[in-house]
Amino acid sequence: MNKGIFLNGQEAEAGRYYELFNPYSGAKIANIALSSPEEMRSAIASAQEGFQRMKSLPAHRRSEILYRTAELYKQRKEEAARIISGEAAKPISAARSEVDRAIQTLLFSAEEAKRICGEHIPMDAAVGGEGRYAFTIRQPIGVVGAITPFNFPLNLLVHKVGPALAAGNSIVVKPAEQTPLSAFFLAELLTEAGAPQGAISIVPGEGPALGKVLLDDERVRKISFTGSPEVGIAIKSMAGLKKVTLELGSNSAMYIDKSVCDQLLSIAKQAAIGAFAYSGQVCISTQRIYVHQELYSEFLRMYKDEVERIPVGDPLDERTVVSSLINAKSLNRICSWIDEAVANGAELIAGGVVKDGILTPALLSGVSPDMNISCKEVFGPVAVVQSVADSQEAVSLMNRSRYGLNAGVFTNDLKQAMQMSTELEVGQVLVNDTPSIRFDHMPYGGLKDSGYGREGVKYAVEEMTDLKMISLRYQI
Ligand code: SIN
Repeated sequence: MNKGIFLNGQEAEAGRYYELFNPYSGAKIANIALSSPEEMRSAIASAQEGFQRMKSLPAHRRSEILYRTAELYKQRKEEAARIISGEAAKPISAARSEVDRAIQTLLFSAEEAKRICGEHIPMDAAVGGEGRYAFTIRQPIGVVGAITPFNFPLNLLVHKVGPALAAGNSIVVKPAEQTPLSAFFLAELLTEAGAPQGAISIVPGEGPALGKVLLDDERVRKISFTGSPEVGIAIKSMAGLKKVTLELGSNSAMYIDKSVCDQLLSIAKQAAIGAFAYSGQVCISTQRIYVHQELYSEFLRMYKDEVERIPVGDPLDERTVVSSLINAKSLNRICSWIDEAVANGAELIAGGVVKDGILTPALLSGVSPDMNISCKEVFGPVAVVQSVADSQEAVSLMNRSRYGLNAGVFTNDLKQAMQMSTELEVGQVLVNDTPSIRFDHMPYGGLKDSGYGREGVKYAVEEMTDLKMISLRYQI
């Protein structure tokens, strides 16, 4: 199967192709366009025409296209899940959950399309402003460039495409090299649902070369990127006056207070899912767990049991939670970080060995904050557990990070919950949830090196629209 470039509402042949393989089985899946800068520029030209069509659609029509796309996904859910599982080695049950979430994100986008509005500005609040009625409106920004990651090849893409189309923009997508097929499927379903020609283009290929075209081209008004901090920082420095939204990495942490001693087993189960779902390849994976010293030993025993029970294997097996990582480079990096931690005094309490090419869920203790396995984003099946004296020590360790995306706090003490929520340097605090929780309508974005701007449909729409103020003076 060849997958070219999706533009003008259909797939076109590309000049060059690369081979796409299933990361678990190694089987070849397809030949994918290795798009050239010129091909990217053609897609941008098509998107500019698409923008003229999109911006002339009334809100109810944009909404209807997104509703219909959600309906099509409901009908073809298994197909969509198998595409994700095949290209990303995502366990099939997690792939189905991702499709369910993408349906919700599309529905939120369909709803949001109908409530993009401004506010009344009381001009007479300023001396001399009397005699005017003023209000703001939000207008579509134009062509949006989206660069998306491999780990949620559908839902993180829908988080860019849904709000862009809801707001009346067009969008050009550069999907992750490993996971372009979910992007093609989305473009096909959107087109079937009535999206106008040029509303969405899919241009697969190498990130740096194609990203540079998106950045350099004046017709692209905004870049929305999800990926590593290094690339995100480079994008921001090259973007000039283009708007950017960056969703970057994290080494997310949670704290378990002594006040939740009765719920420890339930928390251990939640933390196991938080750390190991999709082999930990999630920006908000629960990487660091800080436990009040009075509960530490009991929690560690329960957590070890949970971690050792996690099913490992074929992504198409219904029970599997942990499978192959996205590529050998990632596997080798994580193994070397585990080895380095152990060589420097950390204890490997469970897993952390490679069996049939899969890294088994690894649990470490005795890790110091400056070891790679703790201070960097692992993006793999690894959790580190540490005892702390109290919530203040937990806050100080949780904040000792270049990242600041999500944090979790388990406590029954309301004052402590509020105090920690105020002091944690992150974009989202989840009290009595792991940091790995995200609902698709909530604002979502990071502080520090975790990002810039916010996603979550309503917030993404704000970032993909221009605010305009109109003042009507009724006494000349
Ligand atoms: C991410 O990995 O960036 C997003 C996680 C999620 O949407 O659950």
